[in-house]
Amino acid sequence: LTVSGCANQKTLKVGIESDFRPFTYTEGGENKGFEVELWEEIAKKGNIKYELVPMEMGNMSTALKSGEVDLVIAGMTVNKARKDNLAFSDPYFQTGLVMLTAQDNTDITGKDKLKDKTVATRIGSTAYTYAGMLPKLKEVRGYPDINRAYEDLANKKVDCVIFDERNARDYIQTKGQGKIKIVGDVLNKESYAIATKKRNKYIGNINSAIEQVSKNGTYETLYMKWFGS
Ligand code: ARG
Repeated sequence: LTVSGCANQKTLKVGIESDFRPFTYTEGGENKGFEVELWEEIAKKGNIKYELVPMEMGNMSTALKSGEVDLVIAGMTVNKARKDNLAFSDPYFQTGLVMLTAQDNTDITGKDKLKDKTVATRIGSTAYTYAGMLPKLKEVRGYPDINRAYEDLANKKVDCVIFDERNARDYIQTKGQGKIKIVGDVLNKESYAIATKKRNKYIGNINSAIEQVSKNGTYETLYMKWFGS
């Protein structure tokens, strides 16, 4: 009797996103980012064969449920509503939502100053849900592409953007330099995890791989590379 451990090992399809800097993005036809590299290390430790599937964030949940992809690693925040539909790995990144205004704005100093203001964010994101619960806003504008929201903020077509802190910082350090700024403290703490469908066979293996790359210094090295000090 020969038993081959690899014979029926499936190649997992891993959903990533082409424009969520600096976590997962496409540049010059290449998939780049902290999450792309972290996943590579997790897959190595977990002995996982995979192929990356770039896709739109809005399609991820459906693609997981239909089996079009097996996993998603794309800055996906774990929360209760999503846990009703999907399973999540242990979190691998602690972060939160921040508020941004135009560089020269002085009247919006905190979330209590948003009365009659227009807030922009990515549609379907946790920031979109968060903004929708703030009282007395004029409007929450949902964008399919967060970069358009940052641009509209720079051009003063909206008063404020609420979105994920590290993505906002990346934009400020690149295209948004001198045009927009982060105001105040983190509004809502969130953590990112790998998502998969409920009743899957992978999460146990992935969690132990996440633990290993955290303990052996690999995570730290990647974190320093992408987020500096
Ligand atoms: N963390 C936020 C959420 O889970 C935003 C995610 C943005 N991710 C992306 N791939 N565009 O809703």
